Amino acid sequence: MPKATYLECSLCHQRLDAGAAANLCQCGGPLLVRYDLDSIRHRWRRRDVPNGRYSMWRYSPVLPASDSSIISLGEGWTPLLRTRRLGEQLGADQLWIKDEGMNPTASFKARGLSCAISMCVELGIRKVAIPSAGNAASALAAYAAAAGIESHIFMPRDVPQANYLECKAYGADVTLVDGLISDCGRMVAERGPGEGWFDVSTLKEPYRIEGKKTMGYEVAEQMSWELPDAIFYPTGGGVGLIGMWKAFEEMERLGWIGSRRPKMIAVQAEGCAPVVRAFEENEPRSRFFENAATIAAGLRVPKPLGDFLVLEAVRASHGTALAVSDRELLDAGVQLASMEGIYAAPEGAACVAALRKLLASGFLQRTDRIVIYNTGSGLKYPEAYSTLFPRTAPPAEEPPGDSTPLQ
Ligand SMILES: Cc1ncc(COP(=O)(O)O)c(C=O)c1O
Ligand SMILES: [Zn+2]
Repeated sequence: MPKATYLECSLCHQRLDAGAAANLCQCGGPLLVRYDLDSIRHRWRRRDVPNGRYSMWRYSPVLPASDSSIISLGEGWTPLLRTRRLGEQLGADQLWIKDEGMNPTASFKARGLSCAISMCVELGIRKVAIPSAGNAASALAAYAAAAGIESHIFMPRDVPQANYLECKAYGADVTLVDGLISDCGRMVAERGPGEGWFDVSTLKEPYRIEGKKTMGYEVAEQMSWELPDAIFYPTGGGVGLIGMWKAFEEMERLGWIGSRRPKMIAVQAEGCAPVVRAFEENEPRSRFFENAATIAAGLRVPKPLGDFLVLEAVRASHGTALAVSDRELLDAGVQLASMEGIYAAPEGAACVAALRKLLASGFLQRTDRIVIYNTGSGLKYPEAYSTLFPRTAPPAEEPPGDSTPLQ
């Protein structure tokens, strides 16, 4: 008996069986997992949640895998840290950082892949493949290793070194591709069916978003079920944002929160900002962003599959989408690290730079309750941060007797 009741296409709303492995709908739309929330609300109450596990599986009644299939490495239930000095400096009295760098494999991608691999165990899938900008690959490799499942990974050749090393250590089959994540995706789509690989590309299967949505449940619980006024999310594929939006809708159906929503703020890098461009042009979907380039590897997604869902959530919440430069995001990362002791991934740091802009423009007020998602640890990005802090060689010692005597 599947825990979910059905899968629903986000485009044509067709319903599919929740008990079988699924990728996209026939119409090309991503599938979303639906539950019988009216029945769940009678047996699982908000006050029961604190008795659950100290991981994202504390929300297991609204996750698709049954208990016996769960592959957990302790993902989720990450700290929500109230800032001590940064908020004051930026002009925000109530600022929190949700520190996803504390996850297994040091990024929020652990949530989605714990859920997806658990579903592979449940559905008897033995081989998986993924195109990835880096962190999703690390997480897939780790959870596949824990589950004893074969993983095939396609990453751009210039992926951060930490991601490559992790995948190799976890025993994944790694292909480095001369191109972007979109080229990697094409390779998985071409080779996958012949090889019998289940494609776990972002939104091409319905389970990763289920894991990611727990970021929304957690922020609500950690803020005593009062959602913040604004949420900053670094948007590549945008699945974390879409997932949180889904979580808020589910929590309202469960009777846990009201209809008020945070302003959802999608942050991108200037060198790859398809969602920001579509938002500004008032378009429902994005266009392929040519020559995508940014130091924030996770934001280098030139045409997100779920762009329309991100844009819908941003608009419905009266939020916004904005881009920052690589220099701005790295400087903001150092500001966050030096003022708060939180060493953020460049993607998370981009949100700090974006917050500064939205406070300056008056879009947000000093009194707003603001949460920034730091989606990963800065420790995975020595290449990016060393552009600010190059290690200079020690000065050559002067030969004795060659120095000019002081007068
Ligand atoms: C650290 C980090 N932040 C953000 C993102 C973007 O994630 P999403 O697909 O949810 O937009 C990624 C994706 O690779 C990432 O690795
Ligand atoms: Zn469809």
